[in-house]
Amino acid sequence: MRFDVFTLLPDVFDAYLNASILQRASENQLIETHVHNIRDWAAGKHHVTDEPPYGGGGGMVMKVEPVILALESVFADDPGCPIIMLTPQGRQFDQQIAQSYAAYPRIGLVCGRYEGFDERIREHAITDEISIGDYVLTGGELPALILIDAISRNLSGVLGDPTGALDDSHANGLLEYPHYTRPAVFRGWSVPEVLLSGHHAEIEKWRRRQSLQRTLEKRPDLLQNAQLSETDRDYLRSLGWTGQT
Ligand code: ADE
Repeated sequence: MRFDVFTLLPDVFDAYLNASILQRASENQLIETHVHNIRDWAAGKHHVTDEPPYGGGGGMVMKVEPVILALESVFADDPGCPIIMLTPQGRQFDQQIAQSYAAYPRIGLVCGRYEGFDERIREHAITDEISIGDYVLTGGELPALILIDAISRNLSGVLGDPTGALDDSHANGLLEYPHYTRPAVFRGWSVPEVLLSGHHAEIEKWRRRQSLQRTLEKRPDLLQNAQLSETDRDYLRSLGWTGQT
């Protein structure tokens, strides 16, 4: 999958993309990230990318021409490619959105700086607007990295374990069960017996129940949309759940 990122701060991407799982994914040609400096499309000696807003008010606004020219030039060969603007006004990013974008061969990510974008960028070039949460950052670069990371983990071959993304918290609408590794006892704190038993069916049952219990305790709102069997519902009711019948 190919990511084309448009930013005024191209240097901030390298360190994160060139580490660990994402680095391996790009070495294995599962992802490729092209970072474009919007300033390269800004006219004039000073390559100005921002101006004060028409109508007055504080802050600076990202100019329309360099962003549109950058997008037109990079996507000239691929006019149908999704182009996502990172903005606190977008729909809130989640695992389902990450999974749905993982099905595309290529996406564009447009990172803002300053007070915001000239609205004409949104109107004429953007296919989706995404926020990573209800808070405002100084720019869209961290959100773009978050999208690249969360989308890439869903591509086949990116995680060492091919089923790795299936059990993730949120992948099936529930929070993930707890994990333990060696040693079996540390300072008298022991690992749940069932995990050492070798009984796979029992382990699966315990994990499912832990997953349900955690979701009920920490994010009961998720249970509204989770896919629950009758056994799941019975277990949740035994814990005091009164939702969904
Ligand atoms: N740019 C600034 N804040 C943002 C947020 N919360 N999500 C996406 N892009 C942003």
